[in-house]
Amino acid sequence: MKNVVVLISGRGSNLRALLATARADDWEGTLGVRIAAVISNRGDAPGLHIAREFGVPTQIVPSNEFTGRDSFDAALARAIDAHRPHLVVLAGFMRVLTRAFVEHFAGRLINIHPSLLPAFPGLATHRQALAAGVRVHGATVHFVSIDVDAGPIIAQGVVSVRADDDEASLAARVLEVEHQLLPRCVALVAGGDVWLERDQVRARGDVAARLVVLEP
Ligand code: GRF
Repeated sequence: MKNVVVLISGRGSNLRALLATARADDWEGTLGVRIAAVISNRGDAPGLHIAREFGVPTQIVPSNEFTGRDSFDAALARAIDAHRPHLVVLAGFMRVLTRAFVEHFAGRLINIHPSLLPAFPGLATHRQALAAGVRVHGATVHFVSIDVDAGPIIAQGVVSVRADDDEASLAARVLEVEHQLLPRCVALVAGGDVWLERDQVRARGDVAARLVVLEP
């Protein structure tokens, strides 16, 4: 079993999707990973309760108690390394990471972002999508690089934008797709079917079709 560490800051619905999938033995023959720990930079992150519900060890590295990004990221990296993870998953982790951190975990650090990158990096992605009038929107899982929301793309989930969508309705449909996309990507990267090579994503030929999720 490959160890995976999940980093969160808030709600934890993607964490729940991962944990539920890791438990289910009817999902493509299980996720094949062990969620070794959930680490939050906020002690009040609701997602910590989800981890406990599933019996997964939690740890808080409180970002507000560090004076700078370097010292916080160094402490976070130490906490993660203690679990010897094969993969580190940012699932709603609301911190910009330092170069040292990103380089330390290069090729083993993935993030889920609620837009079809490179469109709409940053925050309020659903509002950005509605304002731009795009017809499709979605979510992206990518390897983390030093530039925020710009690392090599692993997989994307797509939803159509409806005429009567508002931010909340669009966000809800994107989130459903996220919950399909993230476990799949964790399985593919942890299982060695998808990997990073010289800043490019490589995938075994037969997994290409699994790199796109369409809304049901
Ligand atoms: C998700 O929309 C994810 O794409 C983004 O932050 C949100 C986290 O939601 N990075 P949750 O905490 O997983 O419910």
